Amino acid sequence: MNLSLDEQYWTSRYLQNQIGWDVGQATFPIKQYLDQIENKDLKVLIPGAGNAHEAAYALEFGFKNIHILDLSKYPLDKFIENQPTFPPSNLHHQDFFLHQGNYDLIIEQTFFCALSPSQRIDYVKKMHQLLKKDGVLMGVLFNRYFEQEGPPFGGDIDLYKSIFENHFEIKILEPCYNSVPPRRGAEVFILLKKKEV
Ligand SMILES: C[S@@+](CC[C@H](N)C(=O)[O-])C[C@H]1O[C@@H](n2cnc3c(N)ncnc32)[C@H](O)[C@@H]1O
Repeated sequence: MNLSLDEQYWTSRYLQNQIGWDVGQATFPIKQYLDQIENKDLKVLIPGAGNAHEAAYALEFGFKNIHILDLSKYPLDKFIENQPTFPPSNLHHQDFFLHQGNYDLIIEQTFFCALSPSQRIDYVKKMHQLLKKDGVLMGVLFNRYFEQEGPPFGGDIDLYKSIFENHFEIKILEPCYNSVPPRRGAEVFILLKKKEV
């Protein structure tokens, strides 16, 4: 791969408004999962959050401990403009792989597909490390491959099963029935519980 998927790359995508991944709101599968959580004190991380629509949704519905993280400062600054009371300590301008913390829930939304496939095992291990005992990784992943070189980088259910099963109990890993229209039929919903390994 020739592209360097560094901060400069991602910031230039935001500056040029080349953000086809951004659907302008939290996606239905994630909304639906958050809607049924009663404990609004859960400590939640959204890595590769971008414009962080999921965080805005969760805050609106009373979640009190949301953290967002991105390699690019640009979307984080925009988020704060719109959410001026968001605690600065919960905003992480950082490489995901360097982040330290422990969370009850981590939300995946077009972050995995943004990373080079060579980082996938590290992603799984890092997610495992960042979750508390019995913590959960929830979200959506592409269930398709792309003709052009990524990002986005695709995948399928068998591949995800093989990379996650050593570190996570796979509660749900199945085609998503409520994807946003452009991704209909092309996503899986994941609900993965941290295993003690
Ligand atoms: C495809 S975008 C998705 C953004 C957002 N989740 C959404 O769905 O709108 C991928 C995001 O991951 C961020 N990113 C890429 N590599 C990262 C890394 N190593 N650590 C943290 N963020 C990263 C990019 O800056 C970008 O905002």
